[in-house]
Amino acid sequence: MSRDRGRFIVLEGVEGAGKSTAMAVVEETLGAAGFPPVVTREPGGTPLGEAIRELLLGHRHAEMSDATEVLLVFAARAEHIEKRIRPALEAGTWVLCDRFTDATYAYQGAGRGMPEHRLATLENWVQGDLRPDLVLILDVPVREGLDRASRRGGAPDRFESQREEFFQRVRNAYLARAAADSARYRLIDASRPVEDVAATLRAVLGEWLRDATDAN
Ligand code: TMP
Repeated sequence: MSRDRGRFIVLEGVEGAGKSTAMAVVEETLGAAGFPPVVTREPGGTPLGEAIRELLLGHRHAEMSDATEVLLVFAARAEHIEKRIRPALEAGTWVLCDRFTDATYAYQGAGRGMPEHRLATLENWVQGDLRPDLVLILDVPVREGLDRASRRGGAPDRFESQREEFFQRVRNAYLARAAADSARYRLIDASRPVEDVAATLRAVLGEWLRDATDAN
């Protein structure tokens, strides 16, 4: 990657893993290191993407087909990449995204059973060569995450309404993806107290930043 291009960092995790708190810690750590990021999320990140998010997470179309679901995810992503992610990276700005294509492999792939080769075709088409430089995965046992998420209150969205087995497949997919590519993925044990998780995130990012910025 050229010296002038921004870096693309993604945070992922199963439900109730503490993603919102972790996003704030990562944003602050990057800012303090001199790389204040554009902070965004998927599905979403653009007006059209946020409208698609409502279709995906709301219950109005609860019975949408698996193919429709994955195409909506990638439709939102296409818009997001073209309108926000690529322009920022090309301008040298770093991008911090709450979920990206690993979530598609985990939820639509492992969760729903969409074949991986089909997701890879869409990934290559929609993203070209764009891949995250770093993916931080917050990991908690499924039961624990679901308990935490339910304590948060509010009505469960269309994904949160899935059965525990669905989330077990999602978690296993994240673990497998992290294990397969240790250069780009970091697995964070998010079952520990919030302050410990924050400290781990700062340490992991600090180390990654040293290597990433030395490489220039
Ligand atoms: P969250 O960002 O609040 O966790 O909610 C987003 C939901 O959307 C979450 O349940 C995971 C799901 N999702 C997918 O199923 N596929 C995707 O590609 C992305 C980005 C999210």
